[in-house]
Amino acid sequence: MKVCAILLAAGKGERLKSRVSKALVKLGGIPIIGHSLRVLNRHPLVKDIIIVVNPANQKEISSLVEKNGWKKVRLLVLGGVRRQDSVKNALKESGADCGLVLVHDSARPFVRAEDISKVIARAKRFGAAVLGVPVKATVKQIKRGKGSGIRGKIKGASFVVEKTLNRECLWEVQTPQAFRREIIVKAYQKFGGINVTDDAALIEKTGKRVVVVAGSYSNIKITTSEDLIVAEAMLGFRGHPFSGDINPGKMSVP
Ligand code: CTP
Ligand code: MG
Repeated sequence: MKVCAILLAAGKGERLKSRVSKALVKLGGIPIIGHSLRVLNRHPLVKDIIIVVNPANQKEISSLVEKNGWKKVRLLVLGGVRRQDSVKNALKESGADCGLVLVHDSARPFVRAEDISKVIARAKRFGAAVLGVPVKATVKQIKRGKGSGIRGKIKGASFVVEKTLNRECLWEVQTPQAFRREIIVKAYQKFGGINVTDDAALIEKTGKRVVVVAGSYSNIKITTSEDLIVAEAMLGFRGHPFSGDINPGKMSVP
């Protein structure tokens, strides 16, 4: 089953508030997208890669790919307004010969090759699989602001606890997420109009089972500036068990 990867880099990066596009923000001296692209390009099971870009970063990502000789990159496509619109644009370009689609956020630079292999294997077997990690925090469902009747009761409080969720059942899911192509295409056709924050949510709408694969806590997403500080620290920590996958020294800096 041929595996094609979709690497997303078309977002606005609004929460990071950086001057340059989030995918191009330097991490360990190289653009964020370079980290995961390198891992995907050298992964033996990934046969081709579509990168979803935006008009602001297209040129630079294209030259980054060329400079590094990342041969598996077949195409750069322009993204859409929502993350799922970006995925949809890439799905349209993925060939029917591609049996399995692996979707990854370029905002997760520390993806490990072993985890890619694991999620691919589970998706081949079950149709849909995502990487995830057990939630470490205590998570509470809250009621907020107007309409919840809170303001009248507790002066000045805009959030109050509705309930505490059972942590035993909570996992934080990540990318990559892998799907048999016909399953993700169908889910997008049927439910693409619904706003979601990951692809698995659309598969769930179809009633299909999504398998969760234990991934790595190091596979963080760069969302706000604090995440960049953590990411730089992770790169610099030589004794880190995952540092073998992160080797900025081998890449050229544009
Ligand atoms: N993404 C995309 N197209 C969009 C929105 C997001 O390709 N229309 C990609 C981002 O580039 C990112 C991934 O989806 O790699 C995860 O999204 P997120 O972390 O939310 O990134 P941004 O949408 O860029 O950031 P923000 O929400 O803060 O604007
Ligand atoms: Mg976003």
